[in-house]
Amino acid sequence: MREKINGKTILITGASSGIGYELARQLAERDCRLILIARRDELLRQLIDSLPDGGEKHRYYKCDVSDQGTVETVCRDILNSGTVIDIFILNAGVSSGYKPPDLDIENIKLQFDVNFWGVLYFLKYLLPPMIERNDGLVAATGSPAGYRGMPKSAPYSASKAALDRFMESLRIDFWSTNVHFTLITPGFVKSPMTDSNDFYMPFLMPVEKAVKIIIKGLEKKKPEICFPLRLCCIAKFARILPPRFYASIMQNRRK
Ligand SMILES: NC(=O)c1ccc[n+]([C@@H]2O[C@H](COP(=O)([O-])OP(=O)(O)OC[C@H]3O[C@@H](n4cnc5c(N)ncnc54)[C@H](OP(=O)(O)O)[C@@H]3O)[C@@H](O)[C@H]2O)c1
Repeated sequence: MREKINGKTILITGASSGIGYELARQLAERDCRLILIARRDELLRQLIDSLPDGGEKHRYYKCDVSDQGTVETVCRDILNSGTVIDIFILNAGVSSGYKPPDLDIENIKLQFDVNFWGVLYFLKYLLPPMIERNDGLVAATGSPAGYRGMPKSAPYSASKAALDRFMESLRIDFWSTNVHFTLITPGFVKSPMTDSNDFYMPFLMPVEKAVKIIIKGLEKKKPEICFPLRLCCIAKFARILPPRFYASIMQNRRK
């Protein structure tokens, strides 16, 4: 089942910082051809300029993944250029503050728009050609926060849970094909996203190490790349705890 990722054509959303940025860096070292997507295109251009073969080999698009029209335009441009994408890594995500009981609907919608719809828009336009070719890998970045509700993170947890279920159903729907679906569920990884957290993050991992684990998992076409192991085990165990007990042990976390 293991297939070297070297030389593949890979689309990465959220490539301007954190996990997506480091994925681009490490995949370029493995001779992959990259299509990088984010809103901060200046960062993408600088990243591409720093990669081996730079702008000759790789491309980038300024794109807000929560805007279906823009995603459609980008996808049509990619398809019209005749580029065949081997792997999508739909990684763009946001985690913004949430202060219950104030349900700031705009803020909640934003997290769903990026974390959930920002994946589905790409799949709408790019999955059919992949299914027709009967060859490829779709990876999306979820979170252990999607396994169960996390304190002060209802919008983020819910958006990642929706993504988890959607990917799981797609995996079933296309089980008999040669198109594979991977949910990446990282524990705490050092990035601009976690830099703004003001709570204790157990097993916080450097992004370089996290991305090595992700690439290894993609090469094995794992249905789920959950790490680090200890946090993954705790998060999976929490899934089977009774709701009342789970709420009682989580209540005092994250003031
Ligand atoms: N770091 C962790 O501990 C951790 C743990 C579990 C899951 N995750 C998930 O991993 C993914 C990457 O997180 P990270 O830690 O690398 O965070 P990050 O450093 O904040 O990077 C987020 C990336 O998403 C992009 N993005 C955000 N909104 C976007 C939009 N509307 N349109 C296009 N791109 C958008 C950002 O690019 P622009 O701002 O340039 O658009 C940036 O490149 C996210 O899905 C996150 O939920 C992270």
